[in-house]
Amino acid sequence: MLVVLTALTLSVLVWGVFQLVVSNYFLEFTIQEVHAMFVSHGLVCAVLLSAWAAFFILRSRKKFEAEIAEKEAQFDDRMAQAEKMAAIGQIAAGVAHQLNTPLGSIMLTAEMIAEEVNGNAELKEESRKIIRNANYCKGVVRNLLLYAKPQKQEFKEESVCFIIRRTVSLFDHEMKKRGIRMNMSVDCKECAVFCNGNLIEQLIFNLLQNAVDAQPNGGEISIRTIIPGDGSLKISVRDAGPGISGDVLPHIFEPFYTTKSVEKGTGLGLAIAKRIAEDHGGVIDVESAGKGSSFTVTLPARPASPTPAGAPHFHDHA
Ligand SMILES: Nc1ncnc2c1ncn2[C@@H]1O[C@H](COP(=O)(O)OP(=O)(O)OP(=O)(O)O)[C@@H](O)[C@H]1O
Ligand SMILES: [Mg+2]
Repeated sequence: MLVVLTALTLSVLVWGVFQLVVSNYFLEFTIQEVHAMFVSHGLVCAVLLSAWAAFFILRSRKKFEAEIAEKEAQFDDRMAQAEKMAAIGQIAAGVAHQLNTPLGSIMLTAEMIAEEVNGNAELKEESRKIIRNANYCKGVVRNLLLYAKPQKQEFKEESVCFIIRRTVSLFDHEMKKRGIRMNMSVDCKECAVFCNGNLIEQLIFNLLQNAVDAQPNGGEISIRTIIPGDGSLKISVRDAGPGISGDVLPHIFEPFYTTKSVEKGTGLGLAIAKRIAEDHGGVIDVESAGKGSSFTVTLPARPASPTPAGAPHFHDHA
């Protein structure tokens, strides 16, 4: 429409000038003739230009209204998402509260049974299975809680090396059962990091759980700390599993993205791991070309601008 109106306006102008020039044989036109030409063709031009302007304003207004409507829809979506997350948060908090105590007592009882039944290998194995599954449930509950309702956490100087050893020990039995070798190389001399130990434990737990899941029939996990000397500390978790294919790799940090069956994975592990790393001022990188996967977490030994007196800075992302 705009093009048509512009073309019409130009045609009228050109036609007017053409008539003026032809009627005066290129030279002999008078002021009155020019004036008459402008009066007759100028009116048509003015009408066309007004139509052009009106059309332009109408079109811009429609575009503006469409943009506003789109922004409103996006805002509504975000509000609905925030409300959904708040609801999930409340449910998760309730469920976690209800489950944590019985899970703790299940684990304790199973550990006692495992110690008591030394002579009965089968019973010992069964009680280990209970501990393993209860432990897995605890991890899932913690992930859900952290995703839906991030807690305000205290940060303090902690030994990453100690946290790693504590977390690895949770997988001892599972790894032995599956025939997974653990290669641990952690430097305890300079592993103090200003962090929240429970969150770092959950981060490492999620990486180890994936490494174990990737090697159901045995393999190897290497976990090591690297101190590059630039004030950061790196934690690397490498497995010898099948690796991550090119179509899966771009999505692994997205919440609820999983290639595992419903009972094996919620798709929250890496989303939480990434958030924990970032909330410590760090990053998490992945390398997986062909066989095996390697995740590296880089944490600043101290955040660039530490919050006063260890004040919490675990942001609310919900
Ligand atoms: N070490 C690994 N080897 C192969 N694939 C991996 C590895 N780590 C992650 N993945 C892939 O990334 C996906 C997302 O991982 P993430 O830990 O976020 O969720 P999940 O393990 O499926 O479920 P959840 O951790 O909540 O139990 C996995 O489903 C898997 O496809
Ligand atoms: Mg996982």
